[in-house]
Amino acid sequence: MKILILGSGGREHAMAWKCRQSPDAEKIWCAPGNGGIALDAECVPVNLNDVVATADLAEKLGVDLTIVGPELPLVKGVVDEFALRGLTILGPSQKAAQLEGSKIFAKEFMERHSIPTADTYGTFEDKESASQALRSASVEWPLVIKADGLCAGKGVLVTSSGKEATEFVEKLFAGGEFGDAGKRVLYEQALAGEELSYIILTDGENFISMVPTRDHKRAYDNDRGPNTGGMGTYSTDEILPRELEHEIVSGIVKPTLAGLRQEGMPYRGFIFLGLMITKNGPKVLEYNCRLGDPETQSILLRADFDFARACMNAATGKLGDSRSSWFPGASACVVIASEGYPGKPIVGQEIRGIEEASKVAGAAVFHSGTKLDGNAYFTTGGRVLGVSARGDSLSDATNRAYDAASRIRISGSHYRQDIGRTKVSLGRAVDKANG
Ligand code: AMP
Ligand code: GLY
Repeated sequence: MKILILGSGGREHAMAWKCRQSPDAEKIWCAPGNGGIALDAECVPVNLNDVVATADLAEKLGVDLTIVGPELPLVKGVVDEFALRGLTILGPSQKAAQLEGSKIFAKEFMERHSIPTADTYGTFEDKESASQALRSASVEWPLVIKADGLCAGKGVLVTSSGKEATEFVEKLFAGGEFGDAGKRVLYEQALAGEELSYIILTDGENFISMVPTRDHKRAYDNDRGPNTGGMGTYSTDEILPRELEHEIVSGIVKPTLAGLRQEGMPYRGFIFLGLMITKNGPKVLEYNCRLGDPETQSILLRADFDFARACMNAATGKLGDSRSSWFPGASACVVIASEGYPGKPIVGQEIRGIEEASKVAGAAVFHSGTKLDGNAYFTTGGRVLGVSARGDSLSDATNRAYDAASRIRISGSHYRQDIGRTKVSLGRAVDKANG
């Protein structure tokens, strides 16, 4: 099987690393890839905004299966372009990718199919009606304001202050860094609870669940500082008690798949549920139409099945033939970020110690923003490396990941010290919230 992976981050590196372990993987390309992905796949240049050029590349390479990493090509319709040409690709159609591409679309979908989510207060189409609504006495604080379109995690504000809310909405409507994403805005009830990333792979009918993961979104320890794309993740079965998983599957996963089929959007690919586990049960904060980054790094370290074959089966409607099995124990991924991230990162720094880090037992170093120049790696982005490890228990996995991370040297870089070292079982978290 010849496989093309689209993307250039740590998620795509983990996918290439795992696909390479498949006995059927004859050749793996990654487009555009990065300096470290080149260790596991042949990197080829492409502009992922250009779906025609991307399909041309797959045709030219004679690829059997293309797996899409990030959301942008999906929202731009890469799957539809491949389908027109009879090329096999794993991902949802442009229409179904709106589950991630438009928060208002997702919210209306959830309402139509009675999928538990935060109550919607309304939408804003312009800044005048927004500031009027936000000044009204009937507004219940705290609330959450969301730009409708894709904003790389920066289009959401949870706030209790009318002033902060109005300023944020004005910024969204002004365009700027948000472009057209903020031309429509949703506001909803803020939910209290614990967040969980729950991801499935589906062929539209059948699905397999990935092991549960939790993401640390804030930049600094103890959930301080601004939101980021994700500073680290961990996975262990203890996170998710069986009854809670059952509730997620029966109350959210199955109605989502049924709703997609009913609305003529049969879905092949990954569905990432960003959930809040509240005292009233799990609720959907967002849908993503792809694997998470850095969730994938923790998930694939625990995968004890042929991931490439499962992706092929899902893309061709035969997922019923796939079984997933998972290594027991735990995994963790610690993201090393450049100085300045999540603001403007300082890039071009030399990265030392990757080889020593990779020698730690159970560890794997996944590259996000790196390039190879001569014999040395240099930073090219905000999130640089996902230093990951698997272990017998969560403390074993995190100790190994931190041991490996301590061997990496990048001037000015930073990483959180508390990945996987806080609360673990969501069952207990919810019990506590219940009193
Ligand atoms: P989203 O892109 O919709 O997942 O939002 C990004 C982050 O904002 C989530 O991971 C949560 O931390 C937070 N968030 C989003 N919606 C809500 C909500 N209704 N209540 C509380 N926090 C939320
Ligand atoms: N780590 C969150 C995401 O991939 O959206």
